[in-house]
Amino acid sequence: MALTEASGYGAVAKILHWLIFILLAVQYAIGSIMPHIGRETLDEGWVSWHFSVGAAILLFIVIRLGWRLLHPVPQLETLAPWEKLLSGITHWALYLLVLAMTILGWAATNSRGWDVKLFGLVTLPPLAPKGSKWGHECGDIHNILVYVLFGFIVLHVTAALYHYFVKHDRVVARMLPGR
Ligand code: HEM
Ligand code: HEM
Repeated sequence: MALTEASGYGAVAKILHWLIFILLAVQYAIGSIMPHIGRETLDEGWVSWHFSVGAAILLFIVIRLGWRLLHPVPQLETLAPWEKLLSGITHWALYLLVLAMTILGWAATNSRGWDVKLFGLVTLPPLAPKGSKWGHECGDIHNILVYVLFGFIVLHVTAALYHYFVKHDRVVARMLPGR
């Protein structure tokens, strides 16, 4: 099928990439300033913002993955085989980690007896029952993946800086507005 975007990333892929980048930056900031979630914590303030921004990230990462599968973009021909392999692994790890983070956070939220609401507009159905052990464990895994995802983001951004400042190739330009 001629679904491949031979010329590179289109506007939709670029908008979704940078929108999710901004939402993740906001989410990491909220995650680090919100109170540690324990028995006494209330579902309000920064904690409630964390769930809404997280639900928005889930919405956009699902749209983005769907778009990505329908509009594959070939890797830049000038990349060495090891660069193609490493960037391919990193990109799929980023997609899957963001998706996993949101689903684990959703289950963890329900296990504490709260609903996940997208800015009060839509309430997501509960994934885990209140008080469930596995839902609580999802929260523990979520807290570990915070660092794993951050590690892949650092790797990804370092690669972008390397291509831009050292290799001077078209990699970064492909994800910027325009051509
Ligand atoms: C990719 C998106 C997300 C990022 C980057 C993120 C980041 C974080 C961070 C930094 C923390 C604090 C960890 C700690 O205290 O050590 C946290 C905790 C938490 N997040 Fe998220 N989060 C994301 C998505 C979500 C979503 C979608 C939900 C729910 C709808 C959610 C629910 C929670 C809960 C319940 C906790 C406390 C977990 C526990 O201690 O049991 N998160 N998150
Ligand atoms: C300053 C931050 C960032 C920069 C400069 C940047 C840059 C880029 C560039 C240049 C590409 C295109 C690579 C290519 O030629 O194939 C790309 C792709 C990608 N970026 Fe980022 N990025 C950033 C942040 C992020 C973040 C936070 C995520 C987390 C989800 C992310 C996820 C992805 C993914 C999954 C792709 C692969 C797209 C695809 O082919 O499916 N990026 N990024």
